[in-house]
Amino acid sequence: MHNLQAIVLAAGKSTRFKTGTSKLLEKICGQEMILYPISVLESLHIPTIVVVGFQKEEILACLEQHTTLGPTVVTQEEQRGTGHAVQCTEPMWNAEHILILNGDVPLITQELVRQLYEQHNTTQAAVTFITAHLTEPSSSYGRVINKDGNIKIVEAHEFTGDSHEHCCINAGIYLMHADFLHQALKALTSNNSRNELYLTDIIGYASHLNLPVKTLNASYDQIRGVNTLKELWAVEQIKRSDLINYWMLNGVRFSSAQNVHIDLNVSIGAGTIIGAGVQLRSGTTIGEHCTIGDFSCIERSTISSNVTIYSHCVITDSIIETAAHVGPFAHLRNNTVIGSNSTIGNFVEIKKSTIGAHTKAKHLSYLGDAHVGKNVNIGAGTITCNHNGVRRNSTFIQDGAYIGTNNSLVAPVTVGKNAYTAAGSTITNNVPNDALAIARSRQVNKEGYVPLLKEKIAAQQPAIELQSSQSSTVEQEV
Ligand code: UD1
Ligand code: CA
Repeated sequence: MHNLQAIVLAAGKSTRFKTGTSKLLEKICGQEMILYPISVLESLHIPTIVVVGFQKEEILACLEQHTTLGPTVVTQEEQRGTGHAVQCTEPMWNAEHILILNGDVPLITQELVRQLYEQHNTTQAAVTFITAHLTEPSSSYGRVINKDGNIKIVEAHEFTGDSHEHCCINAGIYLMHADFLHQALKALTSNNSRNELYLTDIIGYASHLNLPVKTLNASYDQIRGVNTLKELWAVEQIKRSDLINYWMLNGVRFSSAQNVHIDLNVSIGAGTIIGAGVQLRSGTTIGEHCTIGDFSCIERSTISSNVTIYSHCVITDSIIETAAHVGPFAHLRNNTVIGSNSTIGNFVEIKKSTIGAHTKAKHLSYLGDAHVGKNVNIGAGTITCNHNGVRRNSTFIQDGAYIGTNNSLVAPVTVGKNAYTAAGSTITNNVPNDALAIARSRQVNKEGYVPLLKEKIAAQQPAIELQSSQSSTVEQEV
């Protein structure tokens, strides 16, 4: 494709979204809406101008962060309609043909743009635009009216005809000869119910001048526009099910595909099983032959092969190495690395820690800023006391150590290789290699003391209990 330049319209106020923010920054399967058309154009190597206005800074930041070349940006200070948005770009044109796309058509494909270009080239039309068929009377799409050889677009809020008869809609994707477009933009007027410059009036203008106007019909799903949160939901459903279909065709088994969510930037190895309600968010890679249990949510994390994640785990910014077992109900976050063949059990939270291979922390623990070696056993209820009220400190637990149940490890502290800590210990000093640390008060047994204790207790009944038992006696007498 050559002699072609694209314009993406992204300055609108997104009034119908009713969120107060630009719809173009709303994510669909983890990617901002504006990046969908932009990435199609980028992959086709078409130089692109983006028109921004409402939430300009935020849209620019998004484009800068996610695009490789970075499109040219033009500001439309006042949003006076799609025709006005295109007028703002005129000084930047340097190609023979101009492709114009609304920014809110996220399901657009490379293939459709290529088809539009080929048809436009072959027919040498002044303008070629994409249409689809939809009878929905309440839809907000412009209707394409073709009568007696004249073609024009009537905006939905100005259309009074029969929507079944006029079911051809304007997709908001146009390819025009630049000379014609210059001329047509000059002729636009805001003589309409919204007092805006409608880009769509260009079609009627071309037809009026007897210039060749062509349409390319596409499936409605590919050109769906997003004006409301309801339409956003419908588009995300389509995108999500496309992604799930793709992974199914690549050997991923879904036990309940209809309620799984997968973002665009995710990869899943063959032979992996994904449970019901699982959410795989952007930046997640899952290896082969893993099991991801029901309702687990994984984001920006790497899971190696043969890993089992049981249900209800929340895993963010973490790495889990081969054949590890995690959950149910585990929470791993903030650069945590779980070594191969290790077991992280239920109600275990691990933050910014590394856990060595074959290590086990099976029940009810918090490990934060911890460096745990290989073959370590972390007893149930172990807590690293990593924050002293001012700063965080690290805990080191070296290879082969055995941390007894219900330990508090007060950081900074090191438990040496193959050392043991006794159950219920509060470890405040380093434990040398091979040592047993006992850090709890000693137990005292008072032989035969219980009967004496009971007598003592009976003699000093607490006042409150006496009162309540008296009142219940009174009630029984009545
Ligand atoms: C537009 C078309 C309609 C078509 C539909 C397809 C017009 C007048 N109508 O309607 O025929 O069926 O798209 O989805 O073009 N924008 C600006 N500056 C503005 C106004 C809008 O940049 O001043 C941008 C918006 O951010 C959006 C795009 O242009 O990305 C389209 O605007 P929108 O208000 O969504 O147009 P529709 O009412 O959907
Ligand atoms: Ca729209």
